[in-house]
Amino acid sequence: MRVLGISGSPRRGKSTDRLVHEVLDSVGCAVEFVSLAGKKIAPCSACLGCVKDNICKIKDDMGPLRDKILAADALVIGAPNYFSALNALSHCFLERLCQFRHRDCLSLAGKYAVIVSTGGIEPEVPAAMIEKMLPYYQIKHVGSVAAQGAASCFTCGYGESCSTGAVRMLHGKGVEITDEIIPDLGRQPDKIAAARALGKQLGTLLGVVV
Ligand SMILES: Cc1cc2nc3c(=O)[nH]c(=O)nc-3n(C[C@H](O)[C@H](O)[C@H](O)COP(=O)(O)O)c2cc1C
Repeated sequence: MRVLGISGSPRRGKSTDRLVHEVLDSVGCAVEFVSLAGKKIAPCSACLGCVKDNICKIKDDMGPLRDKILAADALVIGAPNYFSALNALSHCFLERLCQFRHRDCLSLAGKYAVIVSTGGIEPEVPAAMIEKMLPYYQIKHVGSVAAQGAASCFTCGYGESCSTGAVRMLHGKGVEITDEIIPDLGRQPDKIAAARALGKQLGTLLGVVV
């Protein structure tokens, strides 16, 4: 059994990556983590080039991921919230899965998926969007977990005075940015526990004996 974790966050090692790892670390079988950070993944161009053979013809970093996705028995998909939606990198990745569903060929049918999502204010939004995509592929949804991540406004250098950023939205005017108010996965033990529980549940569904 093999589980592929994919994080669509462009920031390596931040909350989305960490939440994907929490799930992967609890599965109990062979896992692989792929960060989409820095990868060039174009949106689906609706060229219909994949209709006959289920192989996308766009030449970019999605190509090498194709075989990994097909070889995996389950996917852990992670995405952050950008402007109350999936971030574009994650969306491009998910659009390109379209190559796996044509005519009678649903190459991802029967695979399991755990979804994790993050957001500075509304972390559950990306998970809800990805959940809606899974039925198109007949991927079986195991569960989702959403955790608060640190918006970059906390570290941009202007967070305390900026009237438009997440710091003001969350804490109001005049707040001082200290480590304690910067959202961190480590201070959300319920989310970590939920991610680990989903990892274990996935392992059980895959028949992994620990
Ligand atoms: C361009 C941009 C737009 C964002 N928009 C939202 C938003 O609308 N709602 C929200 O809850 N968080 C928003 N965020 C905050 C991110 O979701 C948050 O920082 C999340 O932790 C990012 O994931 P990461 O920690 O893995 O990088 C935004 C961040 C960026 C960079």
